[in-house]
Amino acid sequence: MEFFKTHKIKIVNSLFIILCGGILLFLYNAPEETTAFLPHDTNHNRFFEIKSKKEAEKTCGECHDSGKVAPLPEDHPPKYRCLFCHKRA
Ligand code: HEC
Ligand code: HEC
Repeated sequence: MEFFKTHKIKIVNSLFIILCGGILLFLYNAPEETTAFLPHDTNHNRFFEIKSKKEAEKTCGECHDSGKVAPLPEDHPPKYRCLFCHKRA
């Protein structure tokens, strides 16, 4: 018990450092980002010019809504904010 009392802070600090290391390692090993980026082509170039994501996203549906030229696949995740996932880079 005496040992624990005098070393408590050191032990807690060590555990904390180990925990931080673990989290860093976990993030470092995370898979690469795989979601498709916004393409650079004539359909999409104009969206790179629009600063606000919210503005830019307004017209994605003109082509990507169902029944349009490039409808989203059925298993597409919830799609409210296109450019949060499909980044412009
Ligand atoms: C004028 C029509 C049109 C508009 C508007 C449009 N797209 Fe597209 N998009 C396409 C077509 C056609 C394809 C499939 C062929 C291709 O990759 O260009 C496509 C493909 C994509 C892809 C897949 C790229 C890949 O690598 O598989 C993403 C992501 C995408 N669009 C996102 C968006 C977002 C986000 C918006 C709005 C900011 C948007 N598109 C607006 C026509 C459009
Ligand atoms: C929550 C994240 C998320 C959001 C929001 C989102 N998508 Fe996607 N989208 C994905 C993922 C994941 C895929 C499938 C993996 C990939 O990108 O190749 C995908 C695939 C696509 C594809 C390619 C389909 C194909 O057949 O290759 C298009 C086009 C697309 N999304 C357009 C959009 C549009 C337009 C919006 C907004 C209306 C949108 N996405 C919003 C995550 C998202």
